[in-house]
Amino acid sequence: MLNEMRIESFLFFAAAGLAALLLAADVHAEEPIKPIPEAVNVNPFKVDLGRSLFHDTILSKDDTIACASCHELASGGDDGLRVSIGIEGREGPINSPTVFNTAFNFKQFWDGRARDLEAQIDGPIQNPVEMGNLWPDVVSKLYQDSDYPAQFNAIYSDGINRNNVKNAIAEYLKSLITPNSRFDQWLKGNESALTDYEKHGYELFKDYGCSSCHQGANVGGNMFQVFGVLNDYFKRRGDITDADLGRYNVTGNEEDRHSFKVPSLRMAAHTAPYLHDGSAETLRDAVDAMFEFQLGREAPDEDKDAIVAFIKTLAGESEEF
Ligand code: HEC
Ligand code: HEC
Repeated sequence: MLNEMRIESFLFFAAAGLAALLLAADVHAEEPIKPIPEAVNVNPFKVDLGRSLFHDTILSKDDTIACASCHELASGGDDGLRVSIGIEGREGPINSPTVFNTAFNFKQFWDGRARDLEAQIDGPIQNPVEMGNLWPDVVSKLYQDSDYPAQFNAIYSDGINRNNVKNAIAEYLKSLITPNSRFDQWLKGNESALTDYEKHGYELFKDYGCSSCHQGANVGGNMFQVFGVLNDYFKRRGDITDADLGRYNVTGNEEDRHSFKVPSLRMAAHTAPYLHDGSAETLRDAVDAMFEFQLGREAPDEDKDAIVAFIKTLAGESEEF
């Protein structure tokens, strides 16, 4: 009997020791959130060209709007408005998401209608409430420019065309990553990168089940979920628009009604207002909405505030930000 217990406790301590060794090697490898890679493999010439195009109003019909008008990099990659404003002051139907870290989204747009970044670019260029342009006009304007023809020819053997414009902008978007956040430093083993309060906020984020939807490198961006799982948000808000139907607009499936790509929380500290309709003015308001409509439960203010403190540790570094 005694011997058996000794063996058992030996095995127990041996296993614990092994686990501790493994933990030391890769401290927080089992977390639902993964660090953003420190670098991505991109073609620097395409990135430079894409950067010029992204900031150039030449892509819009009346030379007034650039991608950067609605995705201001210095303020987090969105526009700070409830819904975006395009050419001639036209109001769009939906809130502008950040363009940072979009390479890590499994699909693009709130309803996931674009399969990748290149496909996504057709949207804003042709959308009448965004840049309102036509591809042949975009291409001919770029050909008339004093710099673009040479820049394109240096990279693409077939010069300026729709695919190459999309390819260059997409390459630039891929370079817009924000590695080395305090949270990622902690994930990689720097225990002092987060305060105890922020670590507590992260534990609550997991315990309440936020990480069942907001997870992976982007803390979101890798699944669709209905908004209003446990309480009907849209009934409460009223005035349902097409944009509110979400993924249903793409698939026509009833179960996709009001379903959206779970947004990334990486830059959330900087991208107020929140939610697809821009209805949450502060991060705290968005967290309140999540408790009410996604989790269907109450939580004390101090728990919600700690979660907000944790979310603010997720934004990393970028030369453009
Ligand atoms: C008039 C404002 C406006 C302009 C101009 C604009 N965007 Fe957007 N962008 C938005 C809005 C609003 C959305 C969300 C649309 C949706 O999901 O239906 C969006 C979505 C995106 C997304 C998807 C992000 C995600 O997480 O799903 C990317 C990437 C993007 N835009 C890049 C660009 C690029 C590149 C350009 C220029 C070619 C551009 N945008 C021009 C407002 C704009
Ligand atoms: C069932 C899946 C699910 C759960 C659980 C969930 N979320 Fe969300 N979250 C979403 C979806 C979907 C949206 C987008 C809703 C919309 O805009 O229509 C969202 C939006 C957000 C936003 C706004 C982001 C932005 O840029 O607009 C924040 C912040 C957020 N969630 C935090 C949390 C927190 C904190 C928790 C836990 C208390 C949580 N979420 C739980 C699916 C979920």
